[in-house]
Amino acid sequence: MNELFIKPNLKSAQRRTKDETIIERSRFNIPDEYLSLGFNKKFYLRTYGCQANERDSETLRGMLAMMSYAEVNTPEEADLIIMNTCAIRKNAEDKVFGEIGHLKQLKYENPDLIFVVCGCMAQEEEVVNTILKTHQHIDIIFGTHNIHRFPELLIQAHFSKERVVEVYSKEGEVYENLPVNRVQKAKAWVNIIYGCDKFCTYCIVPYTRGKERSRLSEDILKEVVTLVEEGYQEVTLLGQNVNAYGKDLELDYGFAELLEDVAKTDIPRIRFMTSHPWDFSDKMVDIIAQYDNIMPFVHLPLQSGSNEILKIMGRRYTTDEYLHVFDALKTKVKNIAFSTDIIVGFPNESEEQFNDTLKMIEYCQFDNVYTFIYSPRHGTPASKMEDNIELEVKRSRLKRLNQRVSVYALQNNKKIVDSIQNVLVDGPSKKNPDVYSGYTETNKLVNFIPKKAKAGMIVKVKITGANTWTLKGEEV
Ligand code: 5AD
Ligand code: SF4
Repeated sequence: MNELFIKPNLKSAQRRTKDETIIERSRFNIPDEYLSLGFNKKFYLRTYGCQANERDSETLRGMLAMMSYAEVNTPEEADLIIMNTCAIRKNAEDKVFGEIGHLKQLKYENPDLIFVVCGCMAQEEEVVNTILKTHQHIDIIFGTHNIHRFPELLIQAHFSKERVVEVYSKEGEVYENLPVNRVQKAKAWVNIIYGCDKFCTYCIVPYTRGKERSRLSEDILKEVVTLVEEGYQEVTLLGQNVNAYGKDLELDYGFAELLEDVAKTDIPRIRFMTSHPWDFSDKMVDIIAQYDNIMPFVHLPLQSGSNEILKIMGRRYTTDEYLHVFDALKTKVKNIAFSTDIIVGFPNESEEQFNDTLKMIEYCQFDNVYTFIYSPRHGTPASKMEDNIELEVKRSRLKRLNQRVSVYALQNNKKIVDSIQNVLVDGPSKKNPDVYSGYTETNKLVNFIPKKAKAGMIVKVKITGANTWTLKGEEV
């Protein structure tokens, strides 16, 4: 068996210690002889899941560029296929397994092809066992904690022609030394905190992403300042829970302070996600209200409108406490927009409890809601709960919820018809190059007729029409 054979372990992934986080700053190095490993070779990288994964993929791109690989848009052209996977719900995993099976043929056609699975699914013991048993064509598996090892693993697999599996289940470190090749020219993801210690009973993230580890503020601010110098217009501060920023550093410097310092740089737009309502302080609300370059848009996951369900979910807030944050933001931040996440069909959710969720939707009138049917995740406390709710009932609740959600989304969009909005331009829309698209400060997608707009500019757009999920407009 290959010496690089370290499989994930659920027990270690569950563990949390008080050990200080190690920050790795040594120069990231790939031995000279491998800098041309990818010369004349191409890679195809597919990213599933959240922005943390998108950002990780940009690190992988940075490493592959160092090794002279070129990126292609279809797996058929590639010598190296990488799937950066998501484990949040079973259907996310099913998609990946479907794709792994579908692409098997390419390995038969080209035995030199190297096939990699990484990301959150690779952190799951069960998934790795399944791949090892039934998907012989996967050459490399590595997890979220050892992205820095990717070049080494690739070199190993390339020369040994053996399978390489290396997944750590420890709590994790902070790597400040990794290269990055960003996909977008005007918008950048900036990690501020890794991992999650909330352990909501349904959620796999604390196991796949390890303990909460904040980056030092000076590293974050340096990154933002560099992005400004490079012409970036927008940063999104990323974390599984950004509001917990700094708690592990014990410096009396938290998300509110960081947000304020980022706002004092010259970056035109700041976004952040995701916020856990439990850690949302009044000071954070005030900072968001105070600075024009902090966008008036908050993704504030509610999950359920029933206090009983919230308690079993381990969310640490009641609906009243959620509304305290929601109302404070709504009152203090001009023209703020909100999105949220809702899970329907949590084990034993009653009709009455589901109706409590609908009541919260009616009160909050969110601009966007991401709705999910509860999906049991192996190793989480909720997956051990008995569940007497039929899938059909869950599906019907999801449908009813989605119907309510779209009513408010459309209503909110209609309210801003005839107004003038600042829009950060993405570029010509995919369907029609004469129409441009971009996002308002409130994170609404606008398709508009351009005048001088170019990708990366912030332009003024008059809103001329509203659909449920998009706006129409004309540049003024
Ligand atoms: N089943 C369904 N939805 C889930 N989410 C997280 N875990 C699960 C699960 N086991 C949803 C939550 C979270 C979003 C990212 O995904 O709503 O906020
Ligand atoms: Fe999916 Fe969560 Fe991993 Fe993001 S952190 S890729 S949402 S499992």
